[in-house]
Amino acid sequence: MKTIGVLTSGGDSQGMNAAVYATVRAAISHGLTVYGIYHGYSGLIRDEVRKLDAKSVEGIIPLGGTVLGTSRCPEMMTSEGKQKAVDVLKKYGIEGLVVIGGDGSFQGAKALSTGYGIKIIGIPGTIDNDLAYTDYTLGFDSAVAVVVNGVEMLRDTMSANDRTCVVEVMGRDCGDIAMFAALICGAEAVCVPEKGYDPDKIVEVIERNARAGKKDNIIIVAEGIRSDGTLDKGHEADKVMKDLLKRLPELNIRSISLGHLQRSGNATVYDRKLGVMMGAHAVKCLAEGKTDRVIGIKNDVVFDEDMLTALAKTKRFNQEIYDLANNLVKY
Ligand code: ADP
Ligand code: F6P
Repeated sequence: MKTIGVLTSGGDSQGMNAAVYATVRAAISHGLTVYGIYHGYSGLIRDEVRKLDAKSVEGIIPLGGTVLGTSRCPEMMTSEGKQKAVDVLKKYGIEGLVVIGGDGSFQGAKALSTGYGIKIIGIPGTIDNDLAYTDYTLGFDSAVAVVVNGVEMLRDTMSANDRTCVVEVMGRDCGDIAMFAALICGAEAVCVPEKGYDPDKIVEVIERNARAGKKDNIIIVAEGIRSDGTLDKGHEADKVMKDLLKRLPELNIRSISLGHLQRSGNATVYDRKLGVMMGAHAVKCLAEGKTDRVIGIKNDVVFDEDMLTALAKTKRFNQEIYDLANNLVKY
């Protein structure tokens, strides 16, 4: 292996830049030439490829977003798209590819390996923390930090006005951002897709708190809860607020969706460390001739695992965190 490429794909997440940094620097120290592929698979198909050196990645470790840019690329799902992608890789002599993204991006990488013999390694970059094989994905810790900081700010005005606020957070069908953030910022209630939407439980909490003299509440809802049976990201907080008002018409309540703020701002120290360690590990795998591996972290140890085996795993719901988040806020 002499030449590798690196791309970021799907939803960006904090920590992706740290992984790009380490991929480039580790490649150079292994004597490999490294190309950056811009805007994910779309950029690969359109030949947006540039050679990177140590200087190209200077100072990027903390940055949110991704300096390589990202995309969702339907063309990559077609055989013509995959062929174009491979033609571009061959043009630059790229034999190994580090793909930083979620499970969709990994499927794209797998197609390049199975159909065309490109060696591929996946690094889990998504705020959702929805990959079963790894304890954490890049960006999750930073997204939780954004939610916690946001809720701490909201507390000021909510408590001043004796108000309840429904706060919607991201995560697709995974409730990890919601329940970790709820635990850390002491939200009065949390709703996650894994447990379904239960308005009675929220009403019970609000009424119990009111009896104890507490009239401001933070209710965190994950975007995937489907409160009216449909997936309606960005509108769940509003729908839950209206639903609660039907049950408690006198309730002083507001709603907010934190949206893409959760994918913005500098990475936490944890995500920087994780990105750097995963990027370096991915290059080590390629240098050893490995392919079809994904990088993960378990019990603080970074490892690589067969991609299909890893993706076939079912994520375990973190009941302990969920229970703790609910129990510690009881008056
Ligand atoms: P994520 O990587 O965050 O899960 P997506 O699911 O949107 O995000 O996937 C990112 C991109 O990966 C898609 O836009 C597409 O280009 C590519 N991709 C996803 N699934 C496949 C597949 N089965 N075959 C080829 N490419 C895929
Ligand atoms: O997968 C990451 C994520 O931020 C999800 O939490 C969210 O549902 C989705 O991406 C938003 O995607 P987009 O940036 O395309 O609106």
